[in-house]
Amino acid sequence: MIVAIDGPAGAGKSTVARAVAGRLGFRYLDTGAMYRALTWLACERGVDPEDGPALAALGSANPVELDAERWVRIAGTDVTEAIRLPEIDRLVPIVARQHEVRLLMRERQRELAALGDSVIEGRDIGSVIAPQAEVKVYLVADESVRAGRRLTERPGIRAKALTVDLRRRDESDAPQMQRAPDAVLIDTTHLSIEQVVEKVEALVAERRVTTSGRG
Ligand code: DC
Repeated sequence: MIVAIDGPAGAGKSTVARAVAGRLGFRYLDTGAMYRALTWLACERGVDPEDGPALAALGSANPVELDAERWVRIAGTDVTEAIRLPEIDRLVPIVARQHEVRLLMRERQRELAALGDSVIEGRDIGSVIAPQAEVKVYLVADESVRAGRRLTERPGIRAKALTVDLRRRDESDAPQMQRAPDAVLIDTTHLSIEQVVEKVEALVAERRVTTSGRG
């Protein structure tokens, strides 16, 4: 079974996806980390973040390895922490919107999705990477709550700067944000992580009943 979790930055995707994967014993795939790792390598190698063909060549020669639960590696380097730095936050939407980069990443993400039971988080999972996913959710939350959550993750940055940064990221990510028409919308603004996880688990349980009923 595939559980697709999409939504904007700060809506709670990573925390929820990790927790759901842990509870179900499913693999967890963080597709944003793949775009981030390529962005990190592009910075290291001096590749222009707007040069789609060069980025795709770089990514193809240096596939991202990930055990999203623990580490992310590219070109033999552990970049688990480096990919969360503000400089990567700033550049990753530019890299992620390059057509050639998306083609490469999508191919790899589909291969990983085909490995079996997984919870996959991103922006276009339910619509493009795994439209066959049995469970699709789209998480949203009010801007102030999303900025607050990012502040907890990035304590060194001022709240106002974070809100501006979030708006900028929403704009840059907009073309990649593809909400599947059949995704269940969950507004996490007033919900605890536990409550969101329970909602997703309930959808999984519901889906299992429907599927076994058909068989
Ligand atoms: O979820 P995140 O902040 O780690 O994502 C990093 C960037 O990658 C963000 O700019 C959106 C982009 N992304 C994407 O375009 N498609 C995905 N499936 C996942 C992330």
